Amino acid sequence: MSAYKIFDNIYSVGVLNPNMRVFDVIMKTEFGTTYNSYIVKGTRKTALIEACHEAFFEVFLANIREVCEPESIDYIILNHCEPDHSGSLARLMDYCKNATILTSRAGSIYLKNITNNDTLPVTAVKDSDSIDLGGSVLQFISAPFLHWPDSMFTWLEKGGILFSCDFLGAHYCEPYVFDYNIAYPEKYDSALKDYFDAIFSPFKGYVLNGLDKIEGFDINAICTSHGPILTKGCKLESAVEKYREWCKLDLKVNLQIPVFYCSAYGNTAKIAQALSEGIVSVIPSADAPAVDINKYDMESLVQMLNLSDAFAIGSPTINSDAVPPVWKLLSGVDAINNKKKPALVFGSYGWSGEAVGNKIENHNGL
Ligand code: FEO
Repeated sequence: MSAYKIFDNIYSVGVLNPNMRVFDVIMKTEFGTTYNSYIVKGTRKTALIEACHEAFFEVFLANIREVCEPESIDYIILNHCEPDHSGSLARLMDYCKNATILTSRAGSIYLKNITNNDTLPVTAVKDSDSIDLGGSVLQFISAPFLHWPDSMFTWLEKGGILFSCDFLGAHYCEPYVFDYNIAYPEKYDSALKDYFDAIFSPFKGYVLNGLDKIEGFDINAICTSHGPILTKGCKLESAVEKYREWCKLDLKVNLQIPVFYCSAYGNTAKIAQALSEGIVSVIPSADAPAVDINKYDMESLVQMLNLSDAFAIGSPTINSDAVPPVWKLLSGVDAINNKKKPALVFGSYGWSGEAVGNKIENHNGL
């Protein structure tokens, strides 16, 4: 897609990737994605907000050139340094010879590693810092863990435009820039939820903090880095509301202590049931269901894991090891949601019982 004027002195120069079907190895992207990037022109200075994936550099550069010569760009703002936004930066700097890169302090450290270049002209900005482009002031808002430690937003009060990077974005690609032009809004809604689940659900506390930070702002448009621009009166308000709702769904009253298990001949299931009853006998208010791993999909199991206060996992031993569904569940024990949780492993066996020992050896955090 070519460059496109979206507001006075603001241009979309990002690129489309309709064919992407997997993002970051773990996320299915049925509707492709976009790598959004924006140019904001002031009377004195010009800023480029976000770069793009390295694979699309040539198209990206051509889009920029439709708006301005790269040499005239004074600032390149990276709200977040993951390579889908920073991958083309090193090459871009060969053309943007007069640009200073602005990013958070954490981002300034990551960029050196991501680009293998510690000579880039990077300046770290702090929360509330701003730059005046001449008639347009861009203010930086720290937004850590949305979804990397480096994340920040950029706010253009004139016009009420928030550049939010991944936050409120979606891997969704249509050849339109604005939400009100989307041809398949229900598909976009599903992509927004999938994106939240995959990218932001481990950081719900930070999501609520981020929403609180922008709550008082009079926002007319949110220029995300993936998917359509969200506009007031169309998808903007509902996206913000949904993010709050998805964060609050997890509020729970009782202690959650699921007892996950697989069972070959019913013996590990008996242990699971006994553990479940034992937990409830000690903590009557606890929810401690015995959960047969094979009866749930991974998404549901990981949600139970992430919501738990403690958990147990049981496996029979087959061929000196735990069974594959148990390993699969263990791969869902992420360090962000489960750090320092009490955990127990158990199992039954006919020969030698290596499953329990292997689980302990391979998951030192348990
Ligand atoms: Fe779109 Fe976290 O990168």
